[in-house]
Amino acid sequence: MTFAQRLEKTAARLDARLDGLLGGNGGDAGTIRAKPAGAIPDRLQPDRLRQAMRYAALGGGKRIRPFLVIESAALFGPGADAALDAAAAIECMHCYSLAHDDLPAMDNDSMRRGRPTVWKAYDEWTAILAGDALQALAFEILSRSSTHPDASIRADLILALARASGAGGMAGGQALDLAAEKLKDPDVLDAATISRLQAMKTGALITCACEMGAILGRANNDERTALKSYGDALGRAFQIADDLLDAEGDAQTVGKAVAKDAAQGKATLVSLLGIEAARRKLSEIEGEAIAVLSIFGARAAVLRETAAFVVNRKA
Ligand code: IPE
Ligand code: IPE
Ligand code: MG
Ligand code: MG
Ligand code: MG
Repeated sequence: MTFAQRLEKTAARLDARLDGLLGGNGGDAGTIRAKPAGAIPDRLQPDRLRQAMRYAALGGGKRIRPFLVIESAALFGPGADAALDAAAAIECMHCYSLAHDDLPAMDNDSMRRGRPTVWKAYDEWTAILAGDALQALAFEILSRSSTHPDASIRADLILALARASGAGGMAGGQALDLAAEKLKDPDVLDAATISRLQAMKTGALITCACEMGAILGRANNDERTALKSYGDALGRAFQIADDLLDAEGDAQTVGKAVAKDAAQGKATLVSLLGIEAARRKLSEIEGEAIAVLSIFGARAAVLRETAAFVVNRKA
């Protein structure tokens, strides 16, 4: 199986699981249950929020964070099936972050994954609430005993995802990203600050995906630290690649608007250093990511390929 086929296969499994967790017919009874018949007048569109959650979470996306959970867990044995629900949980968190990121008050984007963003397809308040509800769903999934029979493992997963998503992680990074955009102060926005911002807004969830794999695999401290360092490098690379795609990609392939970061005055390493230097930085970080995997030896072949994928991706 090529790397691309492996990623595609995981994405298909993840999509089917998310469909079930979001109350579709393709999975179990569903964490989201339909309203009791007749309880709410139909003209109030009681299913609108649920539909918007499905729209935000299903039908597209590389599913790289779920892939990282599953492949990191797989380092420790054939436990990938057990990792599927934890993988779905982090994808719910990611899809929430995208639904909010696209809102007019944030990046004001109309296209995502090759189709209208959630607020364009529905409306702003529904997109906000769909994001809120997807975030809650992520923690609900991690809390269920079917996700993992060991309550201490579940608590560890919940703690990792909460820390990665909150003020010290994704949400905090998004706040810095938007504050930087308004501020446009080159003295404040040096390379170290931008790297820190990106490590939070994007790196924290990617690191968390790798850490979740370590938790599920009952990794020892050294192994867990190595996976976190790998995730950290991968996260930094991921956002530089995203910023390069914004600068150089075409919207059709990328599935979202391009050439927006410069126009909006986003703080990126591409805007600060230029395309060539950002590209050099990217391959330097790829080397870092691969180096920290050495403690896993040949077992980490897929994670090595993942680093190359993140650096060279076209979408
Ligand atoms: C986009 O993430 C947002 C960033 C953190 C750069 P992805 O590139 O993983 O988006 P999808 O899930 O594949 O659409
Ligand atoms: C990633 O940054 C933001 C998130 C944490 C959701 P971007 O704002 O650059 O992501 P895209 O380009 O809209 O996907
Ligand atoms: Mg943004
Ligand atoms: Mg954006
Ligand atoms: Mg971007």
